[in-house]
Amino acid sequence: MSQFWKPGTERPRLIDDEEGGVLFYSTSALSSSSSGYGFASVEKQRQRLPVYKYRTAILYLVETHATAIIVGETGSGKTTQIPQFLKEAGWAEGGRIIACTQPRRLAVQSVASRVAEEMGVKLGEEVGYTIRFEDVTNTDLTRIKFLTDGVLLREMMDDPLLSKYSVIMVDEAHERSLSTDILLGLLKKIQRRRPELRLIISSATIEAKKISSFFSPSKRRQALQTEDHGPNAEPAILSVEGRGFNVEIFYVEDPVPDYLQAAVSTVLSIHDQEAMGDILMFLTGQDDIDAAVQLLSEESRNGRNQGLIILPLYSGLPRADQDLVFSPTPRGKRKVVISTNIAETSLTLEGIVYVVDSGFSKQRFYNPITDIESLIVAPISKASARQRAGRAGRVRPGKCYRLYTEQYFLKEMSAEGIPEIQRSNLVSSVIQDPMISKTILASNQYGCSEEVITIAALLSMQSIWISARGTEKELDEVKLRFAAAEGDHVTFLNVYKGFIQSNKSSKWCHKNFINYNAMKRALEVREQLRRIAQRLGIVLKSCEGDIQVVRKAITAGFFANACRLEPYSYNGTYKTVRTSQEVYIHPSSVLFRVNPKWVIYNSLVSTDRQYMRNVISIDPSWLREAAPHFYQHQQPKPIAH
Ligand code: CDP
Ligand code: MG
Repeated sequence: MSQFWKPGTERPRLIDDEEGGVLFYSTSALSSSSSGYGFASVEKQRQRLPVYKYRTAILYLVETHATAIIVGETGSGKTTQIPQFLKEAGWAEGGRIIACTQPRRLAVQSVASRVAEEMGVKLGEEVGYTIRFEDVTNTDLTRIKFLTDGVLLREMMDDPLLSKYSVIMVDEAHERSLSTDILLGLLKKIQRRRPELRLIISSATIEAKKISSFFSPSKRRQALQTEDHGPNAEPAILSVEGRGFNVEIFYVEDPVPDYLQAAVSTVLSIHDQEAMGDILMFLTGQDDIDAAVQLLSEESRNGRNQGLIILPLYSGLPRADQDLVFSPTPRGKRKVVISTNIAETSLTLEGIVYVVDSGFSKQRFYNPITDIESLIVAPISKASARQRAGRAGRVRPGKCYRLYTEQYFLKEMSAEGIPEIQRSNLVSSVIQDPMISKTILASNQYGCSEEVITIAALLSMQSIWISARGTEKELDEVKLRFAAAEGDHVTFLNVYKGFIQSNKSSKWCHKNFINYNAMKRALEVREQLRRIAQRLGIVLKSCEGDIQVVRKAITAGFFANACRLEPYSYNGTYKTVRTSQEVYIHPSSVLFRVNPKWVIYNSLVSTDRQYMRNVISIDPSWLREAAPHFYQHQQPKPIAH
């Protein structure tokens, strides 16, 4: 067990920054009477949320200002209540729609179903949602629509002025996700053409000034504006007073060598020693979340986890598992939710009293010089650390265990994260998902759309393998059963076949180290992709085992990711064809150590080196076929006399 500051031996530390400010403040009288655990009527519960007191103020600002910025801490009711206030005030009359965007799909589904429940309507009718591959709305009925900011951007392609929306609420703006930032830029333009449109920008942190000055009209425009009687173009800012409880912060005394192990043992000792209350653990992604779930489950052999309900939470989790996370904890039990930073601000979990913060999250980084974008595990910012800690103080005073030293927090953590737009490759935002779409289109020509769609669905999962520590060897052996000489994409096809032949059995998955949840989710995505493909006139057809055409279709879409093995390379060094960057096949790939001469990768991850994940071998002549403009055959030109 890692050493934390012990309560009692020293004063509990409520202070977490150099300015010496107390971070979490005590609650207002409103919430102290009840924990909000769902016994009160829906209306009572709604009235208890901090935003309720601001209902009139919010509606007034929306009426009178083109843009309203609303700041309030997580759980104050911004997402679930404001769209309802707007609807009650008539903003959805005359066939208009109120939109509320979220950076994450899981959050979209969860808040939409919560709002439908509060309004007593069927999800998909008056209240609906749209995420990629899933549209749960009704053209005639839906008045409040939750959607990812990415989906709203996509809608702009058909309807550039977003004319069906009366109010667009851009939620979680503090996250500065890539799509949010692009969306804000475009909405500012739309506003000039549609003065009747109202924007609400909501955020959990006080970064409102920046956003406000972005939406401020220029002096010249302001002068023009005084003529008409439209809303005030100057944005209004409203801050909703929160209701957090005190959260005691504990730091490890020495840096931990392995945050996963440290997180697991911290959970076990909280469970042993602390009063009832749920635990929220922040890790980085599906891989380490699955590993932690496994480690914690194994503890049942030593009887150390009795009464502990272990629940993973990441986007891509099947619906039924999401519901478990949000359902109330049975009496006498303790939930431990192991989450990515999705639980940092986008989702409110009710009974959390303890937070275990690894100090890391997966972040996207882009190097414009090498043209390489990668998802890497990186330290979080102070702002994130505070948000994470705040999750422990929702229902009563809580505790947050930081798996890093106080010194590190004070001296080394950056104050705020870098907005995603500054660390991403913008291609995929400018052209929506060009590579996979191109592959699916090409598969039509090659007569292998069924296979390519299956591959696309499996590639969209973070990982279909269960990788727990200490079982790497067994996993490698299991992979051999499915491994295809052509590479990972074809291996995916074998896994899919096996899964279907097993009758989609979870036992079969378990035996083969395959993540059952990921497979179930992949089947859903596959069905959606098939529907979309059919709508685009693609004929669903199988190549009946002619794998060469599948590889050609992948080459047609992913030609930009082609790499060539360095001649005489003894350690498997590849160079990207486009920019001559050094890359290596990831050890998780079935082509690791096989090192075919020419490969195409699906994505890159960087740790100590740039690794290619999900790799397939190709024939270089296909590259010229796929993209002649890209790979011109460089024959020496005859010299003219
Ligand atoms: O957006 P914000 O973080 O300000 O709060 P919210 O998501 O609107 O959540 C307000 C309240 O609704 C939370 O305190 C939860 O009690 C409840 N809620 C829920 O029970 N289930 C959900 N899926 C979402 C919210
Ligand atoms: Mg929210």
